[in-house]
Amino acid sequence: MYFPCAVALPRVVGKYAPLVAALLLAAAPAATWHAAPARAPHAMVVTEQHYATQVGVEVLRRGGNAIDAAVAVGYALAVVDPCCGNIGGGGFMLVRMHDGRERFIDFRERAPFRATPSLYQDKSGNIIPGLSTKGYLAVGVPGTVMGLERARTEFGTRSRAALMSPAIALAKSGYLIGADDARVYKSMPGDTVSAGDIRKQPDLAETLALIARDGPNAFYRGPIAQTIVAASTAHGGILSMKDFASYYVNELAPIHCSYRGYELISAPPPSSGGVTLCEILNVVSPYNFTRWGWNSTQSAHYAVEAERRAYADRNTYLGDPSFVKNPVAQLLNPRYAATLRASISADRATPSSQVHPGLGAIAHENAQTTHFSIVDSAGNAVAVTYTINDSFGAGVIAGNTGFFLNDEMDDFTSKPGVPNMFGLVQGTRNDIRGGKRPLSSMTPTIVTHNGTLFMVTGSPGGGRIITIVLATLQNVIDYGMNVQDAVNAPRVHMQWLPDAVEYEPGAFSPQTMQNLEAMGYTLKEVSSWGSAQAIVIDPKTGMRLGGTDRRRPEGLATGF
Ligand code: DON
Repeated sequence: MYFPCAVALPRVVGKYAPLVAALLLAAAPAATWHAAPARAPHAMVVTEQHYATQVGVEVLRRGGNAIDAAVAVGYALAVVDPCCGNIGGGGFMLVRMHDGRERFIDFRERAPFRATPSLYQDKSGNIIPGLSTKGYLAVGVPGTVMGLERARTEFGTRSRAALMSPAIALAKSGYLIGADDARVYKSMPGDTVSAGDIRKQPDLAETLALIARDGPNAFYRGPIAQTIVAASTAHGGILSMKDFASYYVNELAPIHCSYRGYELISAPPPSSGGVTLCEILNVVSPYNFTRWGWNSTQSAHYAVEAERRAYADRNTYLGDPSFVKNPVAQLLNPRYAATLRASISADRATPSSQVHPGLGAIAHENAQTTHFSIVDSAGNAVAVTYTINDSFGAGVIAGNTGFFLNDEMDDFTSKPGVPNMFGLVQGTRNDIRGGKRPLSSMTPTIVTHNGTLFMVTGSPGGGRIITIVLATLQNVIDYGMNVQDAVNAPRVHMQWLPDAVEYEPGAFSPQTMQNLEAMGYTLKEVSSWGSAQAIVIDPKTGMRLGGTDRRRPEGLATGF
C-alpha cells in the first residue's frame, strides 16, 4: 500500500528548533512512492477496488482457478467500481494456463451496423463536439458479458451463478463507499454518493440476476438488449437488436516478443497495445538502462524517442483485423527496429513533425477502464483490461438496467488527423464502419522467463496505457524495483502527437528536466494517470508479489 514518507529530522535543540524543523519539513518531499509489495505463497489477486479483490481471493480459496476468479472479479468490479468495471463496455482477457496454453479473448465493443466513417461530423465535415463521447450515439455494442462467459466455459470450473453471486450480493445489499471511491464518483451522472454511504444498486442486482440465470442470451437477445435499443432509439442512437444478436467474441493469437531474456505475451489488434509495446522494446533493447538509471536524461531520451516512432506507426497502421490488414510482422521485425534506432540522435529530440510512420504508404485501406491481474496456486495467470472508455462511459443508463453504457466509439478515428479524447491523432485504418471494433490501447500482458510465469500486468489510461505497461516492465526488469514500486513510480509518456513529453510530478530531477529541455524536448507536467495492477512471481521462492497502484487508493493486492 501507499505510505507517506516518514521524514527523518535531525534533533535540533534550542530556540531555533521550531524554525529549523519547519524549514526541513518544507524542503522534504510530501510523500514517497516507495512501498513493499503484498506477498502470498499460493495465489494473488490485484484490482483497483478492494471488495472486488476480496471476491477474487474467496473464489480461489474455495478451489476455483484464476479464470473463475477473473469472471467473479469482472462482475464484482461492475458493481463496486462503476466508473470502470462494467457490463456495458468491453475489453480483453489474456490467459496463460500453467501448462503453457495461451488465449487472448477479445470482447471489444463493435460499432453498430448503421455507423459510418463520418458519423460524428457535420455536413461540412467538422467534428460535432461530444457526439462520440456522450449519449447513445457514442455507444458501441458491449462485449463484457459474452467475453466473461467465453472465458468461464472454456477455462473455468464453476457455474455462472456461483461466480456472479458475490457481485449480485454487493449490488443488492450494498457496499461501503471509501474516501477515494467518493472522489471517483464525483463525476458520476445521476447518484450523489459520499464516503461512509452504503451504496445499493437494486436495478443492477436484477440485471445481473437475469444474466446469471439466462446467460448472454439475456443480454444480447433478451430484455437487456431490448431496453438498451429502446433507449437508444428514443435518444437519437443507432443501436439495433441485430447489432446485439450478431455480437461475437474473438479468440486471437497474442503478440509475442522478448526483452532481455524475458518473453512477453501481449494484446494483438484490435488492440494496438502488444504491437506498440513490443516495437518500443525492440528499439530500446540494446540500450543499457540499468547503467543509465531510472528516468535519467539518457534513459528518458531513448525511451521517449522509441515511443514517438512506435506511436506514429500505431496511429497510422493499426485497426480491427477483421477490416484491415495489420503489418504486425513488419513492425516487429528486428531490422525495422534497427532502422528506427538509427534515426535517433544521441543528443537531440527529433521533432514529431520529422517522424513519419516508418513503413510508408500501405496499399490496404482500411478515463474509463480498469485492469486486474490474478495468479492462482497452480500458476494459471489472467490479465484483464476492460473499459467503458470515458469515466462512466457515455454517461447513460438505459431504462432500469442499472449500468453505464460505454462511449468506445470515440476510440475510432472520427476524422483523420483530428485528435480523439486521448489526443491520439489516428488514420483511416481505424475509421468507423458498421460491425468494426475501434482500435484500443489496452495492453494486458503476461511475462515468462525460461518458460516459467514471471509477471502479470496492465493498466487503464487511454493512449498512455502502453507506456504505463512499458514502465512497469522496465521498472522491474531494468531498474530492479519491487512490483509495488514499479506500479507506483511517477510516469513519463510520449505519443508522437502532440509533440510533448508528459510527466507526472516527481518523474524527473530538476537537472534532468533542464537537460531534456536543452535537447529540444517540450516537457508537460500532468497530474497523474493510470492504475496499474501487477503481480510478479519470485523466481526463487514462487512467492506471489502484488502491486496495486497508489493512484487508486481503494485498490488492494492480497492473496494466501
Ligand atoms: O481501449 C482503449 O484504449 C481506451 N478505450 C481505454 C480507455 C481508458 O483507459 C480510460 N481510462 N483512463
